[in-house]
Amino acid sequence: MRVLSGIQPTGSIHIGSYLGAIKQWIELQEKNECIFFIADLHALTIPRDPKTFPEDVFEMTVELLASGLNPEKCIIFVQSQIKEHTELTWLLNTITPVGELRRMTQYKQKARQFKKNVNAGLLDYPVLQAADILLYQTDFVPVGKDQLQHLELTRTIARKFNQRFGKTFKEPKPLLLKIGEKIMALNDPRKKMSKSLPETCLYLFDEPEIIKKKIMAAVTDPGKIIKYNPQKKPGISNLLAIYSLFSKKSIKELEKKFKSLGYARFKKSLAELLINSLKPFRQKRKELLTREVYVKEILEQGRKKAQIIAQSTMTEVRQKMGLF
Ligand code: TRP
Repeated sequence: MRVLSGIQPTGSIHIGSYLGAIKQWIELQEKNECIFFIADLHALTIPRDPKTFPEDVFEMTVELLASGLNPEKCIIFVQSQIKEHTELTWLLNTITPVGELRRMTQYKQKARQFKKNVNAGLLDYPVLQAADILLYQTDFVPVGKDQLQHLELTRTIARKFNQRFGKTFKEPKPLLLKIGEKIMALNDPRKKMSKSLPETCLYLFDEPEIIKKKIMAAVTDPGKIIKYNPQKKPGISNLLAIYSLFSKKSIKELEKKFKSLGYARFKKSLAELLINSLKPFRQKRKELLTREVYVKEILEQGRKKAQIIAQSTMTEVRQKMGLF
């Protein structure tokens, strides 16, 4: 099966997005033909600093590789390096009703959040996403719940194109990920850990002292018993969930082990576990940061492979639409 997904080069990868998404990408690459890319064009719908933007893309590439994406098992590239994405976006624009775009929840949210910059790109964002997906004749798209509406629109656009111009695109199916549904913010366990709120995040590449500081400062609940109860004890429950996911021990086991040892001992043990579990990620990232030529070569190889598929789809699309 061909699997495709994209990630914006905004912010570092935190443990919520790792456990909720990237880890699944890494598992998927074992048995599927996977294409992953850095969605820099999508990121531009919010103003970015042209001086630091290339570094953001490089950093995201390094972080994905350090997290376990293997360039021998998947294609990894930068969206803006393949012009077919924007070319197909334009053509799909001509069959996409504006009304459907205005109805998109993410558009409505962002239009509210960035009132002074409701640019056309913000509205057209889902069409670019549809182009990303349809260009590669994708079977499955791993996405979080917030992107399901965009995927449904992609299917609608594909169907419409196929009806009007003859069967051209596969209709992709979502592969629902639980992004940020497992891991809550350390400083406010009723909120999700989210990259739009950096102060809520524990990053995959945080240094040991930072991990320790963040875990020891994590908000807990009244009482001292270590028990999983997300309603009554959201803080401790979140820490138990993190402990369980990184240690592969069940929550029951952990409750038994820590039951009456107190919050401080439990947190200290969790900090140690995280410092050790995340060590390989930190090391790999640091190593890759010193190997710029190697990382850029991976992106170049990815670009070449992806472009072959993208160009073949575009040849067919141009023909079907009767372009000169
Ligand atoms: N919009 C997605 C997000 O913010 C990123 C994205 C861009 C994407 N193109 C895609 C995801 C294509 C899946 C498929 O999460």
